Amino acid sequence: MAKVLRWTGYVLGVLLLLVLLAAAYIWFASSRTLNAKAEAKPEQLIPMEQASLEQGQHLLLTHACVECHGDNVQGRKFLEIPNVVTLYAPNLTWVAKRASDQQLAQAIRQGIGHKGSRCWSCPRRAIRI
Ligand code: HEC
Repeated sequence: MAKVLRWTGYVLGVLLLLVLLAAAYIWFASSRTLNAKAEAKPEQLIPMEQASLEQGQHLLLTHACVECHGDNVQGRKFLEIPNVVTLYAPNLTWVAKRASDQQLAQAIRQGIGHKGSRCWSCPRRAIRI
């Protein structure tokens, strides 16, 4: 009986170790992917004229940008699961003051933020103008 218990203990110990190793691997692999720097390709900018501004306003509404970034793109909390996760979308007027037009176009069209990291949350591929 004692022998069976000891072996059960060994097996459970090994299983626990494997689960911990798998969790550590997933943690390292996902943090590497999330923090990976990406190289953005140059984007062709559209002219800053009344028609494009109106089209941009229309796209903001039809592509759900305001759902996360807020009505005036001032940023807001867009997801909250108590005790699990709270996600905020940044204030885009703040981002626009710090990023160039080229960087903003790359963020929107390629999903590469102005600091060079990947944006995971915005539906970037939907916008091709
Ligand atoms: C699901 C929520 C969500 C939606 C919808 C969304 N965004 Fe975002 N956006 C975010 C979050 C969160 C960030 C912060 C970076 C990240 O983690 O993706 C962000 C970052 C940005 C940035 C800043 C990138 C940088 O340079 O740091 C821009 C510009 C942007 N979004 C534009 C848009 C546009 C345009 C749309 C509509 C097509 C849109 N977003 C829709 C959540 C969202």
